[in-house]
Amino acid sequence: MKFVNSYKDKLRKYNKEHNLKYYIDTMGCQMNENDSLKYAGILESMGFVPGGESDSNVYLFNTCCVRENAENTLFGRLGMLKQRKIKNEEVYIAIVGCMTQQKHILDKIKKSYRFVDIVLGTSCMSIFPEKLYNAIINGQDKIEYIDVSNTLEEDVPIKYQDKYKASVSIIYGCNNFCTYCIVPYVRGRERSRRPESILKDIRELASNGYKEIMLLGQNVNSYGNDFEEEYTFPMLLKEIEKIDGIEIIRFMSPHPKDFKDDLIEVIRNSKKVARQIHLPLQSGNTEILKKMNRKYTKEQYLELAMKLKQIPDVSLSTDIIVGFPNETEEQFQDTLDVVKKVEFDQIYMFIYSKRNGTVAAKMEDKVTYEEKVDRLERLKKLYEEILPKLNEKMVGKEYKLLVEGKSKTNDKLYTGRTSQNKVVVFEADDTYIGKVVNIKIDSQHLWYLKGTIVK
Ligand code: SAH
Ligand code: SF4
Ligand code: F3S
Repeated sequence: MKFVNSYKDKLRKYNKEHNLKYYIDTMGCQMNENDSLKYAGILESMGFVPGGESDSNVYLFNTCCVRENAENTLFGRLGMLKQRKIKNEEVYIAIVGCMTQQKHILDKIKKSYRFVDIVLGTSCMSIFPEKLYNAIINGQDKIEYIDVSNTLEEDVPIKYQDKYKASVSIIYGCNNFCTYCIVPYVRGRERSRRPESILKDIRELASNGYKEIMLLGQNVNSYGNDFEEEYTFPMLLKEIEKIDGIEIIRFMSPHPKDFKDDLIEVIRNSKKVARQIHLPLQSGNTEILKKMNRKYTKEQYLELAMKLKQIPDVSLSTDIIVGFPNETEEQFQDTLDVVKKVEFDQIYMFIYSKRNGTVAAKMEDKVTYEEKVDRLERLKKLYEEILPKLNEKMVGKEYKLLVEGKSKTNDKLYTGRTSQNKVVVFEADDTYIGKVVNIKIDSQHLWYLKGTIVK
């Protein structure tokens, strides 16, 4: 579905006189961040300009509900804006994204946060301009529930913040229904973007000087499963590889169950695909994995991870959930065991969070919260023992790196990430920004490395 904005001129005209500023607050994953760039693109095409957290007029909250805590954050922030509404300041509030796809959230907004102007779910950017127009020109819009729309919106304007690296969504939604996860319920079924559209976007980015691309999807290696013809994620990667100007290609997340040898081959033979692969583990125990509906065993995961580690210089990152309902100490030990064997360079760790409506929410759970926190701490400790050893192995070697900009803490230093996604700081000057250089690693400092540009 092509994105058409028939309210663009009308709101542009209004903004010529009123100069309304917008502020976007993004929660959640990179898919949401990518969506927020599109909301920024839509708003700017209608004449809104970026503003600050306290002096803006249009506030857009792009929400996440994958774990518990986000709700309180959202409602706290809304409370503050209410004061400005009461003072009759020109303030409009839009809540969009995953959280609003849940009925209980919508009911709460309707009941206690009537001052909110717009509520939209996922995949409904096309109706955002109309809703905004109604809120600004016609007074408050009616808040209604919008069912997960399984549409695919193309040609939405997008406003990238970085100048050299950009994210590109390739597939929306999820069909996997891992039992703990709310995403399939709030993002709908898998919809792959046509390869022509993706390639067109990336070619355009390359011609505008972008060097690094991050391909996004809840399960990127399901890409193309919904096409009639045979077109797979590895095939797409091969096409992107051919685009001049693009030097680093990243993607997230692949699902281990769908990580086939053809993908490994494409990565191995590629000069551009980053030597970092995010391979979500979730649990290292086969019974828990079965209860999670992950469709792989501990052994299958280990086999895949070891195959990937044979690609020279590859680093692996992962997501782990501790404290899934009734996870025993022995089962948790399996997770630690996999972490020890695979030696991940990066681990995103989460305590299991019960999400209403999912299958796991109905499972009995005798594990106390204290025990879950303790497991998280032990996992963290193990990771922090492994990480310096991995970093140490990089010292003395040379790596490809995109110079991103100045270090935030030291004016004389610059930063970038290696293909392995390791943060490196080094001496340089502004002419290096946006260039891909070779860097030699001099020392490791747990969360970052120090290096010297070689050429
Ligand atoms: N599609 C991606 C993950 C999306 S959600 C994948 O399959 O890897 C990002 C991460 O949040 C997940 O990998 C998982 O580790 C975590 N997560 C999802 N649901 C969760 C829950 N109910 N409690 C705790 N962590 C959760
Ligand atoms: Fe959630 Fe599983 Fe889909 Fe990832 S693959 S979004 S964890 S249901
Ligand atoms: Fe959150 Fe939605 Fe992403 S629930 S993790 S923002 S897909």
